[in-house]
Amino acid sequence: MPQIFPRSTNLLPTLSLMAVAGGGIFAILFVWYFFSPEYTDVGYAPEQPVAFSHRLHAGELGVNCQYCHTQVENAAHSNVPATQTCMNCHNQIRTESLKLLPVRESWATGASIPWVKVHQLPDYAHFAHNVHITNGVSCQTCHGRIDQMEVVELVEPLSMGWCIECHRQPELYLRPNEEVTNMEYVQPADFVERNIERIRIENIQPPTNCSACHY
Ligand code: HEC
Ligand code: HEC
Ligand code: HEC
Ligand code: HEC
Ligand code: HEC
Repeated sequence: MPQIFPRSTNLLPTLSLMAVAGGGIFAILFVWYFFSPEYTDVGYAPEQPVAFSHRLHAGELGVNCQYCHTQVENAAHSNVPATQTCMNCHNQIRTESLKLLPVRESWATGASIPWVKVHQLPDYAHFAHNVHITNGVSCQTCHGRIDQMEVVELVEPLSMGWCIECHRQPELYLRPNEEVTNMEYVQPADFVERNIERIRIENIQPPTNCSACHY
């Protein structure tokens, strides 16, 4: 995205513009943040306490995202699985593996594995998974090809401009609900038309008013 107002830019031109524009202050703030690059941490991929591989589990083994992230469709917050979920398989598979030692320890003591959060919005911005999943926004659109990642990496900036870009033109992104966790899904050639039709029928209206995300 073009860096229209780099943080280092002198504030004066913008401030005088605001004075002239008066009521346009919101618009200016809006544009300012829309193009603001400050929060883009794309590439962030912290080391995890267990070398858990999505490429192996979600990719090669084909375990569905919702087997582990059980809450995405029902709740605002998407959960990371409890140790029990790992033990469903690992009480029989690789029971001697050193890589799985922290998992077995967590299971024995009841202390949860201290997974490091990769995606994190600031407190003043509200996001809910369920509304997105039930309106056809894929995990892939926001998190990338998780099924190919050895270590989860942030692939989208999660900036306000990024949220709004889709909220303005959701027809460019939506897919059928049953495909939201399918990482191999390919949109049909006429998907934009289909989405425009769906958006009309289901009255899908992602909010762009400030109070929808800031309250
Ligand atoms: C659906 C079954 C299943 C579930 C659930 C599962 N795993 Fe696995 N996991 C496997 C299989 C199969 C392998 C590959 C074993 C092999 O290569 O022989 C594996 C391998 C691993 C390895 C590599 C072990 C080694 O020695 O190379 C780690 C680490 C691991 N899993 C962690 C986890 C964690 C953490 C969880 C829970 C979040 C989890 N797994 C949940 C089936 C599962
Ligand atoms: C076998 C269990 C399992 C499956 C299947 C699985 N995940 Fe995960 N997921 C985890 C665990 C454990 C973590 C926390 C450790 C990590 O980040 O690797 C995690 C972390 C994540 C994160 C990062 C969370 C954060 O901290 O911001 C995202 C995003 C994610 N998974 C998406 C997916 C998607 C999309 C799929 C399906 C393609 C999927 N996962 C399938 C277990 C799983
Ligand atoms: C519209 C974009 C979007 C979609 C679609 C989406 N996510 Fe997320 N996800 C986010 C954002 C933004 C965060 C950070 C939320 C926060 O910090 O409040 C996040 C956080 C997460 C986390 C971390 C939660 C935690 O407690 O650490 C997991 C796991 C996750 N997503 C999994 C998924 C899975 C699985 C899917 C698909 C079923 C999915 N997400 C679909 C944007 C999205
Ligand atoms: C790829 C498209 C896409 C992205 C990216 C996206 N959204 Fe959405 N958002 C939607 C759609 C579609 C809806 C559903 C609108 C409806 O229900 O009519 C929605 C709805 C919402 C709602 C309304 C929730 C409700 O209860 O009605 C909020 C708040 C929201 N999004 C916040 C965010 C935030 C914050 C981000 C960025 C971190 C984000 N969205 C990123 C497509 C997207
Ligand atoms: C679709 C959701 C959404 C809407 C609508 C939205 N915002 Fe935001 N806003 C965000 C997110 C997410 C962030 C955090 C961005 C980040 O961390 O990079 C943010 C950040 C901000 C910040 C930055 C605060 C800081 O400390 O840098 C300001 C100011 C702001 N928004 C004002 C507004 C105003 C004014 C409006 C209405 C014109 C608005 N927002 C509409 C999602 C939204």
